[in-house]
Amino acid sequence: MPTPLIQLRGVCKSYPIHDRRVDVLTGINLVVESGTFLSIMGPSGSGKSTLLNIIGTLDRPDSGEFLFNGKNMQSASDTQLSRFRSRTIGFVFQNFNLIPGLSVLNNVKLPFLYASVSRLSAEKRALEAIESVGLAHRMDHKPSELSGGEMQRVAIARAIAIQPSIILADEPTGNLDSKTGSEILSYIKALHDQGATVIIITHDQQVADYTQQRIHLLDGRIAERL
Ligand SMILES: Nc1ncnc2c1ncn2[C@@H]1O[C@H](COP(=O)(O)OP(=O)(O)OP(=O)(O)O)[C@@H](O)[C@H]1O
Ligand SMILES: [Mg+2]
Repeated sequence: MPTPLIQLRGVCKSYPIHDRRVDVLTGINLVVESGTFLSIMGPSGSGKSTLLNIIGTLDRPDSGEFLFNGKNMQSASDTQLSRFRSRTIGFVFQNFNLIPGLSVLNNVKLPFLYASVSRLSAEKRALEAIESVGLAHRMDHKPSELSGGEMQRVAIARAIAIQPSIILADEPTGNLDSKTGSEILSYIKALHDQGATVIIITHDQQVADYTQQRIHLLDGRIAERL
C-alpha cells in the first residue's frame, strides 16, 4: 500500500471564547489518497473551515496528528510550513481573498514570494495561469474592477500558478450565481483530471455527488463517510 497523501489521527481543536474553550474539532480521523476528490459538507459552525485550515497547515491541531506523505507536520516551524504551502497547496476561498491594492497580475504572483522560483519564471507562470482562466485582458485591473466570477477566476489562477499538487477550496462557489459557480467548478474539476488532489467544502449536493470521497461534519466530528 502506498503512503496516503494526507492522514489525520485524532485531531482536536478548540478556541478560547471568553473564559472557556469551545471544542471545534473533536477527534478527526481521515485518510486522503493522492489524486482523490474529497468533499466536506456539514452545517454552519460544524468545523469545516477549521478542518480545511489544519489540512492546509494554516492552523495547527491542539492534539492528534497530521501527516503529509507519512511525515508528521507538528514539528515543522512556521517558516517551513510557509515554504511547504507555497510549493504544494493552492487555496481558493469563498470571499476570493484577493489583495485590493494589487493588480490581477500581482495578486497571482503573490504566492511566489515564498517559493524558490526565479522572478522571470514566476512572471511567466502567473501570466500563463491568468490566460488559462481567460483573464489576459484584465491583467492590470484591480479586484474592485472585476465581477465576482472574475475575482474567483483570479483566485483560481493564483492557486494554480504555483502548480500545486493539492487544491483546497472553501465554498468556492458560495458567493457566485449558479452559472458562474459551474464555470469555477469546471476549472477545479480540470485540475483534478490533471492529477491534483482536491478537497472542497460545499453546501451543494450536486458538487458533493461528483466527488469520489465525501465526509459530513457534525459538531466537530465526522458523522458520515461515503
Ligand atoms: N479563530 C477562531 N476563534 C474562535 N472561534 C473560532 C475561530 N475559528 C472558528 N471558530 C469557531 O469554531 C466553530 C467552527 O468554525 P468553522 O469556521 O470551522 O465552521 P464552518 O463549518 O466552516 O462554518 P460555515 O459553514 O459557517 O463556514 C464556530 O463556532 C466558530 O465560531
Ligand atoms: Mg466555513
